[in-house]
Amino acid sequence: MNREFAAALEEWYDVNGRDLPWRHTRNPYLIWVSEIILQQTRVAQGMDYYRRFVERFPDFGQLAAASEVEVMRMWQGLGYYSRARHLHAAARMIAQAGRFPSTYAGVRALPGVGDYTAAAICSIAYGLPYAVLDGNVFRVLARHFLIDEPIDTTRGRKVFRAMADEMLDTSSPGLYNQAIMDFGALQCVPGVPDCLRCPLCDTCMALRHGRAKQLP
Ligand code: ADE
Repeated sequence: MNREFAAALEEWYDVNGRDLPWRHTRNPYLIWVSEIILQQTRVAQGMDYYRRFVERFPDFGQLAAASEVEVMRMWQGLGYYSRARHLHAAARMIAQAGRFPSTYAGVRALPGVGDYTAAAICSIAYGLPYAVLDGNVFRVLARHFLIDEPIDTTRGRKVFRAMADEMLDTSSPGLYNQAIMDFGALQCVPGVPDCLRCPLCDTCMALRHGRAKQLP
């Protein structure tokens, strides 16, 4: 862990993080639903769908008991409909088991849950030390630590994975993960970031070398 990096992100998040409906809970079911919606949907567009979905299906039992037609109707307009089919199938598996899986392996084994989503759910709901790694995180790490590796090669992914794991604040993994997600989405944005008003500008290696716009 890099205490300064994590602390700076979390301080920034404390002031600038988005107040989102799924951030007021540690219920793994609710966090799971939010993460599935956010796989291919922007936060602004997903928010109302999330509210309606969890109002109609407040727990995995209600989702499992619903008909496929109704689940698809609630998803109508979000696109990528296999997400809804997987969500429904997974809810039925969870209902069969009687409780939401409580380990990374158990969560990762649910239909529709990949590495990113499993790390997000387990860190946010359970405080388990799994670092999320997506486009936003790639960009923040590539710039801050001036990592000149392509992200679409096995070697590059390995470098970023190791870096992401190393930077994770293991004492607050859910907080840290959401902080770096929002930091990438709002502050360290693609294209031309606003480095003049960045709280991490003093330690950003890309900025020091005039390469922030270029990376990754
Ligand atoms: N994108 C994916 N998961 C997210 C989350 N929990 N908060 C904000 N953006 C996200």
